[in-house]
Amino acid sequence: MRNEKRNAPPETLPVRRLNRILTMLLSTIKGLTDEGRDLPIRWNLMHMYTSSQLAKLLAIRRGIDPELAGIAAALHDIGVVMTKKHEGHAEAAPPFVYDIVERFNRVSGTKLSQLSEEETEAIVKAVVQHSEKELKSDDPFVELLRDVDSIDAYLHGVEITEGRLERCKKVMIELGIEMK
Ligand SMILES: [Fe+2]
Repeated sequence: MRNEKRNAPPETLPVRRLNRILTMLLSTIKGLTDEGRDLPIRWNLMHMYTSSQLAKLLAIRRGIDPELAGIAAALHDIGVVMTKKHEGHAEAAPPFVYDIVERFNRVSGTKLSQLSEEETEAIVKAVVQHSEKELKSDDPFVELLRDVDSIDAYLHGVEITEGRLERCKKVMIELGIEMK
């Protein structure tokens, strides 16, 4: 029993900062309409939650901080949410990410630790580079977000590009799943 538990994740995954950020994002998104958007806002909402869950799972698999991965995934399309446009949304994201982090750090109080500068920069880097699915980064955190975005779109039945499909196949193999 002891051996079985040694490599097991903790009974409660420490994701309270992520959950607070998801709540903040939900209250922002709830007030937005579909007007002028490339895709309905409900897509962003769904993609935010499911990407975040997949990011945690894959991060645990890869030995990466699952909460930080979940936060990056929750924020990765904030550029689409705020500008309404898909084109250039990754590059447009930093001011919105910094704004959310700043608001989170202001309200985190004594119960939750703040997001550090180092954590914030890792999130911003991954968010800015997440659209470049056909490129390979030497930063595992960047690669994780690209993989998560690819597989989440695939699982939602979205027609995906070759670069994303390659990533899906790679992740499936990593998870021991044969993709036909
Ligand atoms: Fe995106």
